[in-house]
Amino acid sequence: MTPSSVTSAPLTRRGFLKSSSTAVGGIALANLAAERFALGASPGDTVKVALVGCGGRGSGAANQALSTSGSTKLVAMADAFKERLDGSLNNLKNAHKDKVQVPDECKFIGFDGYKKAIELADVVILATPPGFRPIHFEEAVRQGKHVFMEKPVAVDGPGVRRVIAAAEEAVKKNLKVGVGLQRHHQPVYLETMKRLHDGAIGDILSMRAYWNDAGVWVRSRAELAQKLGRPPTEMEYQMYNWYYFVWLSGDHICEQHIHNLDVIQWVKQGKPYDPTGKTPIVHPKRCIGMGGRQVRTGKENGEIFDHHAVQFEYPDGTYLFSECRHIQGAWASVSEHAVGTKGSCNIGGGTITGANSWRFRSEKSTDAYQQEHDDIFDAIRNDKPFNEAFYGAHSSMLSIMGRMATYSGKEVSWEDAYNSQLDVMPKTYAWDAPTPVNPDKDGFYPIAVPGKTVTF
Ligand SMILES: NC(=O)c1ccc[n+]([C@@H]2O[C@H](COP(=O)([O-])OP(=O)(O)OC[C@H]3O[C@@H](n4cnc5c(N)ncnc54)[C@H](O)[C@@H]3O)[C@@H](O)[C@H]2O)c1
Repeated sequence: MTPSSVTSAPLTRRGFLKSSSTAVGGIALANLAAERFALGASPGDTVKVALVGCGGRGSGAANQALSTSGSTKLVAMADAFKERLDGSLNNLKNAHKDKVQVPDECKFIGFDGYKKAIELADVVILATPPGFRPIHFEEAVRQGKHVFMEKPVAVDGPGVRRVIAAAEEAVKKNLKVGVGLQRHHQPVYLETMKRLHDGAIGDILSMRAYWNDAGVWVRSRAELAQKLGRPPTEMEYQMYNWYYFVWLSGDHICEQHIHNLDVIQWVKQGKPYDPTGKTPIVHPKRCIGMGGRQVRTGKENGEIFDHHAVQFEYPDGTYLFSECRHIQGAWASVSEHAVGTKGSCNIGGGTITGANSWRFRSEKSTDAYQQEHDDIFDAIRNDKPFNEAFYGAHSSMLSIMGRMATYSGKEVSWEDAYNSQLDVMPKTYAWDAPTPVNPDKDGFYPIAVPGKTVTF
């Protein structure tokens, strides 16, 4: 939506009421136009979308944004690597034809491209590795743009604090913010959560969360060297194989297990989240944990662990027992559970056993990835309160706090974690800039040693 389309678009009732209560005249009309812009698109406007981070999920999210009802257009793309952007653009063009209008001058490659892509859009999709999220989110809010950002929203305490500050700014500017914790848009979770909040299993005594599976892709240095036709710089390599570096992914406890930890946070919140950020978010007071790497130990596995087990203690004395593991052949489960005084619940499975036994049933299947975009675009077009950054930041913090406990072997309090000054990000961003961690002469990276490693 351009400023010119703003002035010619019909006024929203809210914008009209707010401005008409002051005065009628030049100043009031100018305010009205500004207010209208801040409120976003009216139902008929074409909403311009920019994609920052054109990998698997970013391309998926752009596809979903363009599949929402109403007129949308992809107008800009930014990626660190040209081949990723070009591949994504081709796929999106094939799927959406006229809705994808990204000329060469609106394709931005490298570390700084996000700023220019954001400038061109009404809504920005942020889907780079999560280390960059606080920087990109801050900039999008500074520029007054609605945001859909992938989880996790940060990988360290300073990053979480930046996201919360930007989320507060977004509320003041009436910007809508979605976070890719799509279970919040999935009927089985919504219905089961409502029942838990209404007391279906009584007082909740303990919770469990798992992301145990075989793990994810590895991108090798040799493969990148072949693509580049020369040995990559260390920064190029870490960006390419980002999953295995804490400053980029936060470790798999952040990158994946956040989904399950976030579900338990939602249980403990006891009610739907407040999009204004004014209602405090419940969080554990401390945690202890253990973890390490037993099978995923190659040079290409960087510095992250292959298993973590953490016990989080909430202020009411209840515990969340959490496990995440990337080991092939071991017991696998991606799920969340709660046990209460009147029964137990498999939350994602949609079953309650006990006094109020129940099983979730639905006639139609819902794609939660599509639904989360339908919901944020509806909020943008119809000016509904929508800001998922506050709980997204708290759930990210929980996963970071768990990593702090497993890496250090120490008890970690929420305050230790949240106020941590340990900034894991590089000081500068360039292909030849120093990286926060470096391999030894044999190509292996330093691994955290519980009892010795300092993490907060
Ligand atoms: N909600 C979900 O279920 C879900 C699923 C998969 C991934 N994700 C999240 O989506 C994000 C991206 O994951 P992915 O699987 O798409 O990874 P990916 O590697 O496929 O894509 C990441 C892209 O970001 C680009 N990039 C890296 N740094 C950049 C920078 N500074 N500026 C611009 N571009 C940059 C990379 O070149 C790459 O193309 C992660 O945060 C991940 O946790 C969420």
